[in-house]
Amino acid sequence: MKTRDKIYTLLAESDGIISGEAISGELGISRVSVWKHIRGLVDAGIPVAASARGYELAVDEDHLTPLAFGARKNLIHVHREIPSTMDAAAELARAGCPDFTVVVTERQTRGRGRMARVWASDAGGLYFTIVVRPELPIDRAHLVNLAAAVEINGLLRSSYAVDAWLKWPNDILVDGRKICGCLSQMEIEGGVIGFLCIGIGLNVNNDPSRGEPNAVSLKDILGHSVPRSRILTEFIDRFETRLAAIDSEQLIRDWKANNNTIGRRVSVATTKHTREGTAVDIDEQGGLVLEREDGSRDTVIYGDCFYDTFDR
Ligand code: BTN
Repeated sequence: MKTRDKIYTLLAESDGIISGEAISGELGISRVSVWKHIRGLVDAGIPVAASARGYELAVDEDHLTPLAFGARKNLIHVHREIPSTMDAAAELARAGCPDFTVVVTERQTRGRGRMARVWASDAGGLYFTIVVRPELPIDRAHLVNLAAAVEINGLLRSSYAVDAWLKWPNDILVDGRKICGCLSQMEIEGGVIGFLCIGIGLNVNNDPSRGEPNAVSLKDILGHSVPRSRILTEFIDRFETRLAAIDSEQLIRDWKANNNTIGRRVSVATTKHTREGTAVDIDEQGGLVLEREDGSRDTVIYGDCFYDTFDR
């Protein structure tokens, strides 16, 4: 980690003002060097307030700092810039971090999406990975991904009155434009789920349409910015409640009630081939059931889903 990032982490994890002396002692650098790095943070847009007593992150409603997460603050690892929250979270998980540990960052330099795509991660978006250790058999791990997407969709609808819809497998669309994507990674230990890392990229106060014309942010939709820590807190609460008493039938019902894939003609591209048909259902494994013109059915378990037409 660069010294500037280490200083940012110290500021983000401190409960208030931290003196230049404490930072210089902690990192083994001079106080002049601390001051230069603080200048670098300010130049990079991080609101650091300096006073005779030291430095602290200035209050900014949208600023991500562990303090914004109340009782959960010890489980939230905030970064200014890292390659990908997926890797940082997997590392913590392998080291035995508790359930519902979260890695969140202002920016990612190597954010990744499904099917080995790049996930553009400019400032203002919400990029995080949550580590969970569900007591579920491996063949039910997909329920955790469904739960994450259902809860993000639910919070966009209930807290922000956004007309959000799930698109198979785990995208969230508003007016046909992507506002959120989910990625998951599982590690198995001794034949059971060791941990799952669920990565979420939600366009909140960023402008995703610059790189991806078919993407939209919450700020574009609402006309004002929204504090990302509030969204993240609400998501963790909802997700934790859902996983505490996971009911697969209810979850699949909730997914179906909030999706706009079923009933539509689609093409699903995997790395090997493309399948076409009408999406008629999702099965208990979360696979998409396609019906061909001759009435035969096929289930796809992964891939990129494209709608032939978009009308909702
Ligand atoms: C997709 O729709 O392709 C999934 C996108 C997932 C992006 C998130 S951003 C936080 C986490 N870190 C990553 O590198 N990717 C996920």
